[in-house]
Amino acid sequence: PLYYELSGLSQKEQQLAEKFGIKKVIIIPGSFRNEASRILLGKEASKLLTSLVEEGSKIAVTGGSSVAAITPYLQPVDSLPTVKFIAARGGLGEEMSLQANILVSQFAQACQASYKTLFMPEFLSEQAYVAMKAEPSVQEIIRLYEQVDIVLHGIGTAEEMAKKRGSSDADKALLKEKGAVGEAFGYYFDADGQIVHQIRTICIQPEHVKQSRYVLAIAGGEEKVKAIGAYFKNAAKQTIFITDEEAANGML
Ligand code: G3H
Repeated sequence: PLYYELSGLSQKEQQLAEKFGIKKVIIIPGSFRNEASRILLGKEASKLLTSLVEEGSKIAVTGGSSVAAITPYLQPVDSLPTVKFIAARGGLGEEMSLQANILVSQFAQACQASYKTLFMPEFLSEQAYVAMKAEPSVQEIIRLYEQVDIVLHGIGTAEEMAKKRGSSDADKALLKEKGAVGEAFGYYFDADGQIVHQIRTICIQPEHVKQSRYVLAIAGGEEKVKAIGAYFKNAAKQTIFITDEEAANGML
């Protein structure tokens, strides 16, 4: 489109994809903070997802407002009614409407597809974690994680995510000490993109993400520039990243 040419967005998309060593970058004009950009994000992400799915694709989905922006634009077209949306992790101590479990059920409803939820406390004791992992219903979702074709996820700052989760002061101090700057799928990573902390809950593992066919990451806003830059130091090469102009300018 003309705006992309005039504003240099196409060129920035290429520069960023090269810088991060990933498949593709899509820059939405403006800032995700604004409604107009979020609408464009939702439309663009739903169009992209529709083009990537195949018959029976398994799609893991995390929570968050960026991923949630897609919901109104999903429709039962192409292969979408045949896919399965899978909650990439258990519930978060955040707003109910933005949890992965809720999003997968809404996505599935919008596309007339199926879904799989995972209801689980956010922080499990070592003992509870081991016991949960042995449960047949949990085993079933872990098997689904191993077969995931597409991963759809957000990226957050470590600080914001710890706050959203109601982490204790001691945990927040630990994250700081370990140099955590960002978070994705319940994994906290440092400035080099290395995982420095993970929440003890059942969730998709980094190796499942790496072996999936496509990864669709969505994150924008200047407050996330550092977290995004760190995440992409060690991200899956098959990632398609949708961001906003504000974050893109900060990253270049
Ligand atoms: O993992 C990261 C968060 O889910 C991002 O949440 O899109 O609401 O900023 P957000």
